[in-house]
Amino acid sequence: MELRHLRYFVAVVEEQSFTKAAEKLFIAQPPLSRQIQNLEQELDIQLFERGSRPLKTTEAGQFFYQHAVKLLSNAEEIKSMTKRIGIADRTISIGFVGSLLFGLLSRIVFLFKQQHPQLKIEMMEMNTYEQIQALKEGRIDVGFGRLRISDPAIKRVLLREERLVVAAHSSYVLAHRENIHLSELVDQHLFLYPNTGKANFSTQVRGIFSEYGLEPKNIRIVRELQLALGFVAAGEGVCIVPESAQNIKLAHLNFVPLADAFAVSPVFMAMRNMDESEYIRYLFDAVYQVYDLEALKYDRSVF
Ligand code: BEZ
Repeated sequence: MELRHLRYFVAVVEEQSFTKAAEKLFIAQPPLSRQIQNLEQELDIQLFERGSRPLKTTEAGQFFYQHAVKLLSNAEEIKSMTKRIGIADRTISIGFVGSLLFGLLSRIVFLFKQQHPQLKIEMMEMNTYEQIQALKEGRIDVGFGRLRISDPAIKRVLLREERLVVAAHSSYVLAHRENIHLSELVDQHLFLYPNTGKANFSTQVRGIFSEYGLEPKNIRIVRELQLALGFVAAGEGVCIVPESAQNIKLAHLNFVPLADAFAVSPVFMAMRNMDESEYIRYLFDAVYQVYDLEALKYDRSVF
């Protein structure tokens, strides 16, 4: 059995007609019918209900169809991933969630570029879901994100757990505290971000509240981190951000550490499972060098 047979079979199932499938595949109908017959002979089963109009698959045919679709999509992924690995010594494309740029990402990328001047670096902002898709399609080589999304084609390494802090206007009493507990924030106007995607940083923060049996009463979700901090600087409420966001300076904007142990946001690096490119390792090296400079704790057991 060859991929070609799977392609023919999938086209016939989806078009529910040999004639239409043959047109879609730009081949004549008799060879298409022959190929499907060969497939049925090889499998020793009937894939289509005889005489059905429109054409229907048998139970075995339906099973075969679902697996054929998966196999064809895997074959496409392998093709684009392999092409990408082939050019990885010239360009490395990095997907990242916006908030990481205010933290260590810019330093890591700058260091990496200095260490590997022969490499061209491309940086693209995208959410963690988009990163997984972009990795599989070969549009990026590495993704930096904050969500625990699993995919069999992707390897995800936890780099560190970043502490969260509260941003508050300097006129707020709590803005001058040494630390704050989440339980003290449930009645505050709380800005969360972003407002896109089913799981994101805002759902992560709400999840942390619920780990402590808490539910903030006055939540407002805004598009992005900078907007949330802008509202806070205007005295409209408070916001929970990763501690690296303290690099964003606005007048009257204070940051106070959260005391609760679970008030952290993970930082992940994701790459294709089969990507053994040496530059991935070099990028890990750059990450951990910056962590060392910042005296940040990490567990380098994977890379
Ligand atoms: C970090 O803040 O730990 C980080 C940010 C971007 C890339 C890698 C690590």
